[in-house]
Amino acid sequence: MKKYFGIILSVVAICILTACGDGGKTSSSGGANKEETNQLAAIKKAGVLKVGTSADFAPFEFHKMVDGKDEIVGADVDMVKKIAEELGVKVEFIDMEFSAVLTALQQGKIDIAISGISATEERQKTFDFSVNYYNPPQKVMINKKNADAYTSIDSLSKKKVGAQKGSIQESVVKEQIGDAQIVSVAKVPNLVIELNQGSIDALVVEETIGAAYIAQNADLMFADIDLVSNEDEAYAIALPKGSTELKTELDKILEGLIKDGTVEEYVQKNSKLANESTDK
Ligand code: ARG
Repeated sequence: MKKYFGIILSVVAICILTACGDGGKTSSSGGANKEETNQLAAIKKAGVLKVGTSADFAPFEFHKMVDGKDEIVGADVDMVKKIAEELGVKVEFIDMEFSAVLTALQQGKIDIAISGISATEERQKTFDFSVNYYNPPQKVMINKKNADAYTSIDSLSKKKVGAQKGSIQESVVKEQIGDAQIVSVAKVPNLVIELNQGSIDALVVEETIGAAYIAQNADLMFADIDLVSNEDEAYAIALPKGSTELKTELDKILEGLIKDGTVEEYVQKNSKLANESTDK
């Protein structure tokens, strides 16, 4: 009897210990905020803005060979470079899978995250966001040979529909194309490859990104299927919770770039650039 009691006791003890562990984890989130200094001052002092991104998202962030060297380019990249210039600091881009970007921000591994991130209500619970800078609608992309087959949400029933892992497109598929079989893939170019090869039947992306890939893939097209795009899906720069000074400064710079058409110009310029990169 005593022996069993001992076992039960240690199980209870382990449970308590694990629970404590979890509690510790949650309270230490918020990354760079920990040292109570203001984010803006900390970045200026360091002289470098560390930016997390998932460079698989033309025309916003993607890889391109520039003078024989692999570089991360895109509209988001141009925007951040301009912001860093205004702040008087250097920029360092840290490329990772999209599903890791917000976690890295939460852990304080990066100062800001820019990655065509939709500032959803859910994400706003954990992060601060700059003003919105772009808002493309959700689209279904398919193979041209299936143009007559996939013409409605119902026609995608039981079909394999792809979305990027960790993106809001996963929820778009689940909520709006509920009878489809969702396939989550880490990188957008791999989703496009799967669509090309026919291992998935369709995929959900935002229009600007889809258009950049369609321009490079003569076999792909947007399906004539309407998806609902929610208001809180617009892109914004993600900041650690409580970065008041940093947000004020970023918003001021971003609002200027939006108003004078610079953001739109960056998107156009980089859409062209994305197209050129595959001619090689
Ligand atoms: N806007 C979508 C989201 O926030 C997709 C963003 C994906 N970004 C990327 N760089 N792959 O969930």
